[in-house]
Amino acid sequence: NELGVVAVGFSGGQCKPGVDAAPTALIQAGLLTQLKEDLGYTLHHDDKVHNYSSLMPHSDPSYRNMKNPLAVSAVTQQLATQVYEHAKHGRLVLTLGGDHSIAIGTVAGTSRAIKERLGREIAVIWVDAHADINTPETSDSGNIHGMPVAFLTGLAKVEKNEMFGWLGEEPKLSLKKLVYIGLRDVDKGEKKILREHGVRAFSMHDIDRYGIGRVMEMALGHIGTDTPIHLSFDVDALDPQWAPSTGTPVRGGLTLREGDYIAECVHETGSLVAMDLVEVNPSLEAMGAQETIRAGCSLVRCALGDTLL
Ligand code: ARG
Ligand code: MN
Ligand code: MN
Ligand code: MN
Repeated sequence: NELGVVAVGFSGGQCKPGVDAAPTALIQAGLLTQLKEDLGYTLHHDDKVHNYSSLMPHSDPSYRNMKNPLAVSAVTQQLATQVYEHAKHGRLVLTLGGDHSIAIGTVAGTSRAIKERLGREIAVIWVDAHADINTPETSDSGNIHGMPVAFLTGLAKVEKNEMFGWLGEEPKLSLKKLVYIGLRDVDKGEKKILREHGVRAFSMHDIDRYGIGRVMEMALGHIGTDTPIHLSFDVDALDPQWAPSTGTPVRGGLTLREGDYIAECVHETGSLVAMDLVEVNPSLEAMGAQETIRAGCSLVRCALGDTLL
């Protein structure tokens, strides 16, 4: 029951300050203590919230429409190494973000470690209101937190090392091993990508139709048993009623119970190797910040094995 924890105070994948304060808020709410004392994990944590200030470039102009490209590339490269170091020892890795651009680093780190350790490809369950699969060319916003999946699957082209070239030519994630849950705000260019590549995606419409129980059966069925799973959970998958303090809230989302259920089902597979919790922004919707932090803690506890009975 070894757990590696990486706290990432980074907000450069989007424009709203405050998401970098989430790891501290989650930890102050008692999350790590609960994982240790209630769930019995042995924690490997450097007791730091990383802000990667030494990696920040002096100047970071937009490039191919990407905002802060050098910073995001440098931070995610470093984060990939941090996650890899935990995962190669066989630890489950929990990353507390930060905005969702950090998944470029976390998924790259798990992917490499699992390939080396087990000779296997990972699957990713991406729980989100958004698909985050824009390429720099299809993105309207230029925010890289809307692009991580495109970089991980090789849809977005990489250039020199400091422009995500460190990812290499080989995709870190196969589009066949990616499953979305909770989508409801997908850009036009993203819809085209999902359709053309036949990506497995369960939108809120599917959850309304089949219920979350059946959706999880189908999602896990697509991945297949005995495949290592990386769960990347964007708190904005939840309805703003439960998670108002996030940068890009979208109404009509998951209930907290549905979110917890997704996490519980992933835990039950026994195949979880890494989890990200991202996009909690305690500085937005001051009234809702505690609620959002509590929801985030709940999602993590459920994914890590907390049960109702
Ligand atoms: N699709 C929009 C964009 O590309 C929103 C992305 C929101 N992403 C997130 N991780 N919250 O900018
Ligand atoms: Mn560490
Ligand atoms: Mn989102
Ligand atoms: Mn996201």
